[in-house]
Amino acid sequence: MSISGQRPSSRLSGFYQKSLDERVRILAEWAQLTPAEVAALQEGLGLAQADKMIENVVGRFSLPLGIGANFIVNGQERLVPMAIEEPSVVAGVSYAARLARAGGGFRAGSTEPVMIAQIQLLDVPDPAQAEQAILAAKERLLALANTSPTIAQLGGGPVDVQVRQLPETEAGPMTIVHLLFDTRDAMGANAVNTAAEIIAPHLEQLSGGRALLRILSNLTDQRRAWAEVTIPVRAFSTIDYPGREVAQGIVAANAFALADPYRAATHNKGIFNGIDAVLLATGNDWRAVEAGGHAYAARDGRYRALTEWRLVEEPTPSLFGRLEMPLAVGIVGGATRAHPTAQVALKILGVESARELSEILAAVGLAQNLAALRALATHGIQRGHMRLHARQVAVAAGAQDEEVDEIARLLVQEGQIRLARARELLEEYRRPDDRGPDDKVRGSW
Ligand code: MEV
Repeated sequence: MSISGQRPSSRLSGFYQKSLDERVRILAEWAQLTPAEVAALQEGLGLAQADKMIENVVGRFSLPLGIGANFIVNGQERLVPMAIEEPSVVAGVSYAARLARAGGGFRAGSTEPVMIAQIQLLDVPDPAQAEQAILAAKERLLALANTSPTIAQLGGGPVDVQVRQLPETEAGPMTIVHLLFDTRDAMGANAVNTAAEIIAPHLEQLSGGRALLRILSNLTDQRRAWAEVTIPVRAFSTIDYPGREVAQGIVAANAFALADPYRAATHNKGIFNGIDAVLLATGNDWRAVEAGGHAYAARDGRYRALTEWRLVEEPTPSLFGRLEMPLAVGIVGGATRAHPTAQVALKILGVESARELSEILAAVGLAQNLAALRALATHGIQRGHMRLHARQVAVAAGAQDEEVDEIARLLVQEGQIRLARARELLEEYRRPDDRGPDDKVRGSW
């Protein structure tokens, strides 16, 4: 499944300017995709397959699939497939990943892939005694919970039992049992939920209580990934802004999101712009990761940014950034297997384990955050959005090939991005006149 050996550089200069066909050709060569795999990228899920995935199917819903370029994660070159409808996200991560190369790319790591299942025990006559009895029976419970031969074969399975008391809830006291389960390369929801249901009657016997809920927790704080980056401040210099000023702006923007939940929600949403797009492309449950990420962001009782950004002066003045969060993902089972595009996306990524995927996801989240903060702390995000919006309007007006960029540029220059104006400009552009072709290219971005 993975691409063997060292991958070519992911630094795809000018990729966005190439035609769609040319981009596909470059990608297919880079990731050694077969014609069938290219077709899977472009055609996606078949209707008959869709009909087997959920209920009441009447069609399919497509999204653009783009490539986040320029990534180095733990020294490995990576191209990152991203399914998303929002303009600027793919361009943003690619730009940030290019900046990160100035510091050697992203360093990333992860915990073992340990999920938590919760069993809620009600009407427990003596919670302290129940806790003792459950912990004393831990080995037997772990053996009973070892319900997935596939996961066991790969070295995973249940690893621990913990007990938490909730003495005061609206429904009275309750005893909560956590079953910790290493699901290896699976996201593992099925295995973990099955194990929870299997041990629940035994927990009832041990506690003298009644088991109600038996379900995994999406706050997978035992299954985290992190990514870090250190970028020399000079890499941020532009004609308009000195690099140090940009880096300081990013630090101040992050401080805002650490101090204020209103800003933190938007800040973290930006992180998920990147992460969700990769989760979708690889057939992973993005709602689960979102839930875990947001809960983790509020773990100390106050919702805050998931990232940290600070300046370091040695050995070179640099911006240091870090993102750590729960990232429960799989590369086997569920839609990762069933969806043909997800299979190709995993091949492009070249990951060999769920942990490796989670580490790339952390790097993508950090890159997306960097791109957003850099834009917000300098010229704002609207300029980039306007360009992309203008391109969409130009296409809607009928512009083709090089006309798209030219009409978009004129729309942005005039500051009015309207379909009617795009049509007028296109008509003007196509009108034969005595100007040479160079006269049509006025200025640049
Ligand atoms: C827009 O989708 C995401 C941003 O709002 C993120 C942020 O503000 O950090 C640009």
